[in-house]
Amino acid sequence: MRHAHSRDPEHRLNRQRRRIGVTIAAAALVLAACQASDGGDASDGGDGGDAGNYPEDAITIVVPFAAGGPTDTVTRLIAEPMAAELGVEVVVQNVEGAGGTVAAGEVAEAEPDGYTVLMHHIGMSTAPTLYPDLPYAPLDDFEMIGLVTEVPMTFIGSPNFEPNTMEELVAYVEENLDTVTYANAGVGAASQLCGLLFETATGLDLTEVPYDGTGPALDDLLGDQVDFMCDQTTNTTEHILGEEVKAYAVTTPERIDTLPDVPTTEEAGLGDIGVTVWHGLYVPAETPQEIVDALNAALLIALEDENVVTRLGELGTAPVPLDRATPDAHREQLESQIELWRPIIEESGVTAG
Ligand code: MLT
Repeated sequence: MRHAHSRDPEHRLNRQRRRIGVTIAAAALVLAACQASDGGDASDGGDGGDAGNYPEDAITIVVPFAAGGPTDTVTRLIAEPMAAELGVEVVVQNVEGAGGTVAAGEVAEAEPDGYTVLMHHIGMSTAPTLYPDLPYAPLDDFEMIGLVTEVPMTFIGSPNFEPNTMEELVAYVEENLDTVTYANAGVGAASQLCGLLFETATGLDLTEVPYDGTGPALDDLLGDQVDFMCDQTTNTTEHILGEEVKAYAVTTPERIDTLPDVPTTEEAGLGDIGVTVWHGLYVPAETPQEIVDALNAALLIALEDENVVTRLGELGTAPVPLDRATPDAHREQLESQIELWRPIIEESGVTAG
């Protein structure tokens, strides 16, 4: 079922105007290229706009954070079986910036032809509260394809950081507020939200060091250039098991099988932080239903792929149950998460403005 877009008509008109501007510019470039290529015919190439024949060309999945990080890892895992199912190449492109909002803004403005897909996570639900001037409306400017996975987070410290437990960490941060650094992926990132929850639980105001993603942030933490962070198990598990970092707590209510020695935040004395990082795939609003269905069918296949299930399992998570990998379940998740995080963020006073 397609959902009616509730945003005001002026917002939709503006989006259409911007898309028309981009399309005219692209058409002018194609025409110029055809003229330059000695009599080529502009109608030769697939324009990707025919939902019936979709897909005919490579599909790009845009990742809003740096390569090598947790969102990138999950996307590259599912891209392979999705490509096999769709019969075209699926390219992963990292578009970093502003806690994931640059990429989401670009995909919101892309042609609704199924060739530009966004992988985003919990940040899709926190950005509307964090960014007073967010240039897109998550519920109105996208069609949802389905949820992908839900990933626990872990508080970790750099190899030579003094504290060894969560209790020691809180005491140490309190004593060294001006010098301790907390790495994250910018306002709107899961790592930023987790830091905000740490601040709320402890009453401490962290000195944040923002990166384009927690991939590069973790590299710096491993090199003792930043002190601690809270990041997804898809990025941290192997470093925790290899004892390359200090592990303070996992953010789930129960311990997780892959990290049996890491206490929950509740056990570690921080209280129930209650955050896991859900991911979903999006396409621009007004993408034809046949295309949404084709992408959803490929997602469902990918979530049952043996390599995907095994690898996600090794990294402390799993694909969502298939009845949650649907556009409707995804939309409900986004709606409820926007409502869940709004008062918490508002109370914290944090904004990107
Ligand atoms: C990433 O892929 O770098 C992370 O998801 C960033 C974050 O949200 O903390």
